[in-house]
Amino acid sequence: MLKIFSKKSEEAAKLFFKTDIHSHVVPGIDDGSPSVERSLELIARMKSWGLEKLIVTPHVTQDTFENTPEIISEAYGTLQSGLQDAGIEIDMDYSAEYRIDEMFVEQLEGGIVRRLHGDYLLVENSYIQEPYNIDQILFQVSMKGYHPILAHPERYMYYYDKPKRYNDLHSKGILFQVNLLSLAGYYGKEAKKVAEMLIEKDYVDYLGTDLHRRTHVEVMDKYLRSKDYRRHREKLEGRIKNDEMRGPSEK
Ligand SMILES: [Fe+2]
Repeated sequence: MLKIFSKKSEEAAKLFFKTDIHSHVVPGIDDGSPSVERSLELIARMKSWGLEKLIVTPHVTQDTFENTPEIISEAYGTLQSGLQDAGIEIDMDYSAEYRIDEMFVEQLEGGIVRRLHGDYLLVENSYIQEPYNIDQILFQVSMKGYHPILAHPERYMYYYDKPKRYNDLHSKGILFQVNLLSLAGYYGKEAKKVAEMLIEKDYVDYLGTDLHRRTHVEVMDKYLRSKDYRRHREKLEGRIKNDEMRGPSEK
């Protein structure tokens, strides 16, 4: 009996969806995985949570991670070869996490952004302040025929004293992707509280691991065994739309 119990507790706890839409496991081009070897390790752990499809999203950020489509596709190719050599099978596609800045506008205008799936684009704000022209840029995004998904809205501290901004953005059709690590408390109490508030308001459209490094894996492993996770799962199961991106993209 004891043996059965310990074997079960060794098994990785599972996520309640199979498609992750936000991670930094493409090696060597942002602040995520530094090498193919580390990427393989992180991806194997993601598989152990029951994930069957990963849409990986390196940063595209002016002055920090100035990734062009060529840079991303080359690094992604290296990752694919590594997975093949290691015999790790997982359905994978790549896009990017676009910081709302001038580089994004250039890539958008140049027609070289790569969608997440369908018409969706994953975008993020600066952590310091809301982009002064966010409304204008998001309007441009929609004029180009894309639907923006805002990455981790719960992590932008400048929204904490004006929660109405969440209502404004969401009612304008901006979809929200909350980080599991926020729900786990990894970024602090306030981010967790805001993430839970977004759940209560039914504003959580997608969840993401936003996995960069081993520490994140450890936090996730612990979170997936927690009461918090069971509570969050009860509220979000059947509501988030991650698995709509499971099949091949039609566009
Ligand atoms: Fe990210």
